[in-house]
Amino acid sequence: MNILAIETSCDETSAAVVAGDGDQIKILSNIVGSQIKIHAPYGGVVPELAARRHAELLLPVISEALKKAGVKIDVVAATYGPGLVIALFVGLEAGKILALAWGKPFVGVNHLEGHLVSVLGGNAGLDVTIFDEPLVALVVSGGHTELVLVKRYGEYQLLGRTKDDAAGEAFDKVAGMLGLPYPGGPEIAKAALQGTLNKMTMPRPMMDSHDYNFSFAGLKTHVLYLVKKLKAEKVDLAKVTPDIALAFEDAITDVLVAKTMAAALAHQVKSMIVSGGVASNARLRQKMLAAAEIEGLRCYFPPNDLNCDNAAMIGIAGYLKARYNRYDDPFTLRANPNLKFS
Ligand code: KG4
Ligand code: ZN
Repeated sequence: MNILAIETSCDETSAAVVAGDGDQIKILSNIVGSQIKIHAPYGGVVPELAARRHAELLLPVISEALKKAGVKIDVVAATYGPGLVIALFVGLEAGKILALAWGKPFVGVNHLEGHLVSVLGGNAGLDVTIFDEPLVALVVSGGHTELVLVKRYGEYQLLGRTKDDAAGEAFDKVAGMLGLPYPGGPEIAKAALQGTLNKMTMPRPMMDSHDYNFSFAGLKTHVLYLVKKLKAEKVDLAKVTPDIALAFEDAITDVLVAKTMAAALAHQVKSMIVSGGVASNARLRQKMLAAAEIEGLRCYFPPNDLNCDNAAMIGIAGYLKARYNRYDDPFTLRANPNLKFS
């Protein structure tokens, strides 16, 4: 079964063709048209600009994905939430119209479910049995920080989420305070490599809150006041940026690891998944893998090119629905900016 998948929930315009056969999944093409340059001057995604750019890029991106894959399409899948509603509209409506025009079934995909199953896109033909449910998944990106119990694929229980900023958003905002370009996550990680640990102390918000929720606004404000103080003291910010970046990265990853491990142990799962843009962070990976090893747990990360938003992950999630005939009606499925795991 060949699936054309479309993703336009935020600032990446993406189309992919994914082939599924039983437990085998193969990514035949995955084209991502990035809008980073458009949003960089604003330090974050501007919804109106994102939607306009999706409209411009979508057709070329879809035709490139189809051309590269060179196969007949059996099903069309598109993200229907969560995300920026005017951005979602562009890809979702295009997907529905293509399905109707081609007389093919349509599948709406939850973007968060896409991030979750992106771990299955590692190698051509990865085995779906790595879903040794129940498992705990941390979806950690620019828009989301969600800790989920995957009872079985398609059946989720939200354990906790951020009460304010998403982890990636905190990376982006702190990078902005340090004068680093957008998106800030990779820039903070790069700067942190030159830093010395424990030169600065940072709070670990909600570390001992005995629940699975997160809050990163306080940590962000802590950096803001620190930077203000250093500037007032005429300290050369460029010189201390690596130490600040490292202290911030260390604090945020400590919280992410502690909460994920606590959830995994409390729910007695054997495996964990960490996915989303922030899953590219090497310190997070290192710490998560070390903590998992101590407890004898398996921890899966998607391949790096599937961490950030892309349509291949939507195609994988679409296939996992389509293989059980869980299709959606293009006439009634609406974009849902607040779609949750359910
Ligand atoms: O998954 P994604 O493309 O978009 C959303 O669905 O939100 O994630 C983008 C986010 C950005 O906030 C970016 O700064 C962050 O992922 N990110 C990182 C790293 N690479 C990307 N954060 C920390 N360390 C990284 N290496
Ligand atoms: Zn995402």
